[in-house]
Amino acid sequence: MTHRPRRALLYMPATDWRKIEKASTELEVDSVCIDLEDGVALNRKEEARVGAVKALQSLDFGPRERLVRINPVGSGLELDDLKSVVPAAPQAIVIPKVDEADHIRWVSKTVRKLQNEHGLPTIGLIAIIESACGIVDLRAIAGADSRLEALIFGAEDFAASIGAIRTESAAEVAYARSAVVTHAAAYDLQAIDMVRTDYKDMEALARESRQGLEMGYSGKQVIHPAQVPVVQQAFTPTPEEIAWAEKVIAANNENQKQGAGAFAIDGKMVDMPIVKAAERILARAGH
Ligand code: COA
Ligand code: MG
Repeated sequence: MTHRPRRALLYMPATDWRKIEKASTELEVDSVCIDLEDGVALNRKEEARVGAVKALQSLDFGPRERLVRINPVGSGLELDDLKSVVPAAPQAIVIPKVDEADHIRWVSKTVRKLQNEHGLPTIGLIAIIESACGIVDLRAIAGADSRLEALIFGAEDFAASIGAIRTESAAEVAYARSAVVTHAAAYDLQAIDMVRTDYKDMEALARESRQGLEMGYSGKQVIHPAQVPVVQQAFTPTPEEIAWAEKVIAANNENQKQGAGAFAIDGKMVDMPIVKAAERILARAGH
């Protein structure tokens, strides 16, 4: 992964101008994702496309990433979604309910064609894995296309797809959540964790964000402004973590020169996996 990972990725319905405006101009959030899918009622899909285009063309997002979530491939809405929003040049398209690699390839081909017609810079793809089929086909999906930048885990849809009941422990989605982060790592993609729907419980959000970080995720989806600072912070290394990482890397460089692969810092053994963990911390810090 070459770019700094997205920490919080905030959704808002494309039909809700106030929320788009607030997210793109007031909130300190890495990624703003204008939603055409489940946040928008079926009878307002065209209005949503118009709203998304207007936002991309008229608002100054500053440093925030501009994303649009389209409707799923096979919904019958996806082609009109892409034809409307791609010319307005979002930085990436978020594809929900990716069940197979062909979904990614179809979006990639369509985006490439529209991008060329309109002379736009490369638009990335982000896939949401949120079904039993998506988990079973992860390897093919993760390796489907060079435009793919990240995998998102969608816990609510996934639980529904296997008939699971969501619980506080999240044990029912542990296998899928872990599979997504593992496949993302294998294909050098960013992994973005599930949404916490009870958006008023900040303690639970901090706990769940930390759990995702510990599993290997480097960002999380959010749905409300109150969740943004908690998640941005959870995925930002602390000054102590950065200092530790810098110390490990410096000590490793020195020890490698002396011919030592393993050595000790503060009474703990350091070898290659620890050095890699230190490098990941610095990458998350944007160093
Ligand atoms: N993005 C940006 N701003 C948002 C926001 C979002 N997702 N959700 C709420 N806000 C804003 C409101 O506009 C309001 O701002 P203002 O007073 O400055 O105008 C402020 O945050 C407080 O909002 P609040 O009254 O607490 O929330 P609500 O009752 O209006 O909305 C939800 C609650 C859950 C409907 C709303 O947060 C939402 O639409 N979330 C995203 C839903 C979505 O996109 N789902 C699909 C992806 S999973
Ligand atoms: Mg979903």
